[in-house]
Amino acid sequence: MSPIPPQPTNLSAFLDSPNQPLRIAPSPLPTPGENDIIIRNHAVAINTIDPAQAAGFNVKKYPTVLGHDLAGEVFAVGSQVTRFRKGDRVIGHAWQFLTGEAADGAFSLYSRVPARNAAVLPEGISYADGVVLPLALDTAAAGFYQETHLNLELPTIDAKPASRGEVVVVYGGSSSVGAAAIQLAFNAGYRALATSSPRNFDLCRNCGASEVFDYKSSTIAEDIARAVGSDKFVGLYNAIGVPESFDVVLPVMEKLGGGIVANTKPPGKLPENVSARFVLGVGESSFPLWEGFVTEGLASGKLKCLPNAKVVGKGLGSLQAAFETRDGPVSAEKIVVEL
Ligand SMILES: NC(=O)c1ccc[n+]([C@@H]2O[C@H](COP(=O)([O-])OP(=O)(O)OC[C@H]3O[C@@H](n4cnc5c(N)ncnc54)[C@H](OP(=O)(O)O)[C@@H]3O)[C@@H](O)[C@H]2O)c1
Repeated sequence: MSPIPPQPTNLSAFLDSPNQPLRIAPSPLPTPGENDIIIRNHAVAINTIDPAQAAGFNVKKYPTVLGHDLAGEVFAVGSQVTRFRKGDRVIGHAWQFLTGEAADGAFSLYSRVPARNAAVLPEGISYADGVVLPLALDTAAAGFYQETHLNLELPTIDAKPASRGEVVVVYGGSSSVGAAAIQLAFNAGYRALATSSPRNFDLCRNCGASEVFDYKSSTIAEDIARAVGSDKFVGLYNAIGVPESFDVVLPVMEKLGGGIVANTKPPGKLPENVSARFVLGVGESSFPLWEGFVTEGLASGKLKCLPNAKVVGKGLGSLQAAFETRDGPVSAEKIVVEL
């Protein structure tokens, strides 16, 4: 009989109660459900939701392990998983926000992820670069692909730019979610218009925006309406998670008429010709995107790892300081910790 290979040791950054420093300690090695994969994480990203959860938001039980974005190597696959093998390099979105289970948090050496919420990361793209995408893609996808939201078409690697005669507006194009939304719209043949600060216009254009507008301009509503022109307007993604964003978005939408999907709760009172839906950036609506476009998009260069990763530390012990970085404003970058 061959000896049983030794199991690796897992380590996690535990949150024991709200606003407590993370405690790094050994933890059980997660086991996969039949449709899950276990990933040995090599990079994780920090999102605004992480410090919010560290303060107690949507934590179902303690101690817990937080974290959404991860990149690493597949360690184990569930019995029904056919898209991945042990050793594959992947990016994925961990689901602790939905399940409340510590094994489903990204801030561990080993985490569990639904296989349909992951994709192979091509050789040549580092884990630190790849990890900027998962939560951003999922949030953009939740706004774009649900029938109850904008119900747009999925991207393909051979879509012709602006071939549909239809326009999507992305408010907050230099945010992680906004950059993902521009890329998804562009690669599905929509013409993408975006807003950002002028210093980030090139980032938005690099994602595929045909025109970019300064959201502080007093003529933004007229300028965007003019840019939409006679093409069909199919909706606006408000990627900015502060209520003040609607001070700019609503005058734009009053001119265009149609649907908003938003990362923050829309105001109760809307212009008559406008509807709005809140987006929850985790769930099944992004599965077709992960199974279809993500790997080929990355390999072909059509899906770019933007905004750029800013690596602020190495090891689970660096997460606490990384959280504090994420408490302040971030412009056109994603905070990443390598493991
Ligand atoms: N509902 C969900 O499920 C969900 C999921 C993910 C994120 N979110 C929320 O969505 C927002 C975006 O997340 P993210 O990680 O993509 O953000 P991020 O990358 O941190 O966004 C930073 C960008 O936001 C822009 N910005 C900041 N304040 C602004 C304002 N008042 N008006 C317009 N633009 C502003 C800045 O643009 P410039 O530097 O170009 O000025 C900056 O580049 C966050 O608030 C986050 O909490 C919600």
